[in-house]
Amino acid sequence: MSLLLQSPVVRILRNPAAMQRQASIWLRAGCRIGFVPTMGCLHDGHLSLVHEARRQVGKKGVVVVSIYVNPTQFGPQEDFIRYPRPFRHDARLCREAGVDVIFNPSDSAMYPNRDSGDPSTYVLEERLGSILEGASRPTHFRGVSTVVAKLFNCVRPNVAVFGAKDWQQSRVIKRMIIDLNFPVKLVVAETHRELDGLAMSSRNRYLTPSERTQATVLWKSLEDLRTYLKQIGKPISATQLEQRVRRLIASQPDARLDYVAFFDSETLNEKKQVTSATHMALAVFIGKTRLIDNGALG
Ligand code: PAF
Repeated sequence: MSLLLQSPVVRILRNPAAMQRQASIWLRAGCRIGFVPTMGCLHDGHLSLVHEARRQVGKKGVVVVSIYVNPTQFGPQEDFIRYPRPFRHDARLCREAGVDVIFNPSDSAMYPNRDSGDPSTYVLEERLGSILEGASRPTHFRGVSTVVAKLFNCVRPNVAVFGAKDWQQSRVIKRMIIDLNFPVKLVVAETHRELDGLAMSSRNRYLTPSERTQATVLWKSLEDLRTYLKQIGKPISATQLEQRVRRLIASQPDARLDYVAFFDSETLNEKKQVTSATHMALAVFIGKTRLIDNGALG
């Protein structure tokens, strides 16, 4: 991006009320708001979401990125404390990408009652969020939908851009938008990958060099099944494909399969017979780091 296209500054708002005031001013002026919710530690995958948000709202619109590591979506044994928070680096990337405002609230601003226990009001999508990731991480989607609803109430976006890497998250949010009448258009942008196929993720930085090499097994599993299905040319049982994925994952010394699932991409209903139209998702521990990936098998 040329220097001329970069906004000279990116405003940082830390207070939900200030964010709401700014959003009201924009909306009253007829300015469209594009929104990319993140937990920071930004990489090219996030930046592709920012560019998509800009494409959606145009030059006259504004793009807001939230940077907030949301405690309520982490389980007690998960990486909330050590989740990387390189804020200055993130702010620079946002500025270079032409973001207008970073919304970066504190925990006490987002969850004022946390000292006296968890918040007592949650947004809970009850079906799509209870399977797959939700089965492995029981309170995860409750935390995600709660914080996304809160962020929507602060940023008041016309368009929100999410990444396809968290496919199930995008379905849960889509359902929440419909069920709770949020006036937000959901856009899901393609997964951004490293050259060797590994899906970009802030958690990739936890990997040692050897684990980083092994981590490509998620992408390789997806590609392997795509090729296999094409060769076979007819529906094949999910159990058989699961065995194939298990063997691939077991070929890596530090990899452990959490789950692999075959389902309809919209309803997330399990498929017992798999075709190229079926969606596959998998979660794999590489050492101590849990990575996810997904994609259509066509
Ligand atoms: O996908 C993420 O980074 C998070 O789940 C989100 C949507 C920012 C909510 O904390």
